[in-house]
Amino acid sequence: MSKMFNWVRPGRLFFAITVITFGSLVPSVAGSEPARLGIGERAMPEEIARWDIDVRPDGTGLPTGQGTVEQGEVIYAERCAQCHGDFGEGIGNYPLLVGGEPSELKTDDRPIKSIGSYWPYATTLFDYVRRTMPFGDAQSLTANETYAVTAVLLSMNGIIPEDSMLDSKSLAAINMPNKNGFYVDPNADVHNTPCMESCFDGPVIIKSVAKFLKVTPDD
Ligand code: HEC
Repeated sequence: MSKMFNWVRPGRLFFAITVITFGSLVPSVAGSEPARLGIGERAMPEEIARWDIDVRPDGTGLPTGQGTVEQGEVIYAERCAQCHGDFGEGIGNYPLLVGGEPSELKTDDRPIKSIGSYWPYATTLFDYVRRTMPFGDAQSLTANETYAVTAVLLSMNGIIPEDSMLDSKSLAAINMPNKNGFYVDPNADVHNTPCMESCFDGPVIIKSVAKFLKVTPDD
């Protein structure tokens, strides 16, 4: 453990120096970019829109559309179950999507981290599925299909009833079982005021938090 943090610290310092160095160069390059470089082309609003698909915890960025658990069951069976299992139990090394309890995150040495036990927001579940799944065919689901498949994932986890329909409003209103399980890292270097010297207490705090939560095995 301590070896890892000794390694991480100089890395961050290097990163900070890199950012500061490049930061001071950026204005001169950015101001004259098209004329001087003469390569590439300005991104069109439609192109930017295709990349700009993130959804925030409060639901900002959710597209219009809707889907039911029932519709999601069909999509899940066709597009998800071969890896995640018919009941979200996970096949082989593919991750499970159902199981565990938030309370076990603090008591078990190896707690089950699933949508039901670990994820703090239903909105970012939608975001994750929309951007990445099905694995190998990412972003092939429509907005409606993504609402439907998110609905079935939440239903499989017992978070919403089987007859539910989700849209941007109802999705953002869902309270996840582990929504209070996350808090701001007390480590010194993630506070708003960066720690620039004598910061070596930081890793010790992280270590003790990890130990307290029992998320990291002792050996
Ligand atoms: C080909 C196998 C495969 C298919 C099909 C697939 N997934 Fe996944 N899924 C994965 C893998 C691999 C990961 C882990 C990715 C990672 O950690 O980078 C994952 C991760 C996830 C996670 C995050 C799990 C967590 O708690 O960290 C969710 C949610 C998920 N998939 C949903 C879906 C949904 C919904 C579908 C169907 C639309 C789907 N997956 C189809 C392989 C698959």
